[in-house]
Amino acid sequence: MAHAVVATAYGGPEVLDIVEVDPGEPGPGEVLLEVRAAGVNPTDWKSYSGAWGTDVTQLPIRLGREASGVVIAIGEDVDTVAVGDEVIAYEARGAYTDRMIVPAGSVFAKPAAMSWEKAAGLMVVGTTAVHALAATKVGAGDTVLVHGASGGVGAMIVQLARAKGARVIGTADPSNHEYLVDLGAVPVGYGPGLVDRVRAAAHGTLTSAIDVSGTREALNASVTLIRDRRRIATIAGYTYGAALGIKLLGKSPGADPGTEIRMAARAQLIRLVEAGRLTVRVGATYPLVEAARAHRAGIEMRVQGKIILVPGQMPVARPAPSRSLRLLRRGR
Ligand SMILES: NC(=O)c1ccc[n+]([C@@H]2O[C@H](COP(=O)([O-])OP(=O)(O)OC[C@H]3O[C@@H](n4cnc5c(N)ncnc54)[C@H](OP(=O)(O)O)[C@@H]3O)[C@@H](O)[C@H]2O)c1
Repeated sequence: MAHAVVATAYGGPEVLDIVEVDPGEPGPGEVLLEVRAAGVNPTDWKSYSGAWGTDVTQLPIRLGREASGVVIAIGEDVDTVAVGDEVIAYEARGAYTDRMIVPAGSVFAKPAAMSWEKAAGLMVVGTTAVHALAATKVGAGDTVLVHGASGGVGAMIVQLARAKGARVIGTADPSNHEYLVDLGAVPVGYGPGLVDRVRAAAHGTLTSAIDVSGTREALNASVTLIRDRRRIATIAGYTYGAALGIKLLGKSPGADPGTEIRMAARAQLIRLVEAGRLTVRVGATYPLVEAARAHRAGIEMRVQGKIILVPGQMPVARPAPSRSLRLLRRGR
């Protein structure tokens, strides 16, 4: 048996529990992964917070979307990956676990020099960033404003925009300004006076803006500074963003999910890491059994960089609270 973190109810991180799961055998086109690290993303705690509804028929909810690990078994017809390969898996629904089944098409060779932790934190933020830059048509010669530039997605947008030859103005807490300079952005503090500070830093025309913070301040600054609203996007401020007529990116109703571009971005991100042009900042690593503590740190934004869970030693499994939990399989 394997172990997995589940939300047993809607609420705060106190609803998380670790239960026994049967990962099963890989079927045709599938591989069995021994998970070495799983990436933590805000969507993980949003899934059980109640922000997206409280349908009890969805409980218990498996968590996690991305992982790194070693392939330990392959199903029929799988010839793109072999047992023993070190890989990154995305999408990997239910990645907060020590073993899981994933489609072979969601598995990519891990760059040899990349740690398990960095590898587990690359894909959700990286694919979102690729989509945001494509949607706002950022390229060489552009000056792009990135709100929330020091976070997981923001840091990816900064690096990818710089790799395209764009100039980047990035908003962040002052404690992160040096980090933004290291990534190649011009740092600016958010808060009152934002528009004036950005204008002063831009030394000329801003051509696009990408918001990952979801604040009204960020969206208002963007529409004040950039005339063409087709070149302004948010991945977090959907209601106000819709009212302003800017691009909404992601899985929310009415937003552009960018499914194809995000899936195609996975191989591109790996190539950029291998070329030394893209990196992931890991801020904190927690044992899988401490997922609730990791989520509290993420919700309170106490960690600078990605939060990663590592399976490590599992507790002796105690009886799951119900038959449905004990029999959880494959992220259902
Ligand atoms: N739509 C999609 O497809 C999609 C995909 C991934 C993520 N998301 C969403 O995007 C958001 C960011 O995700 P993430 O993984 O990058 O989270 P994250 O790593 O926690 O980064 C969030 C950043 O926001 C910054 N911030 C906090 N208050 C701010 C303010 N008032 N103004 C501007 N920036 C502020 C913080 O930077 P400082 O520490 O420097 O203050 C923090 O690093 C989340 O809401 C997430 O759910 C959406």
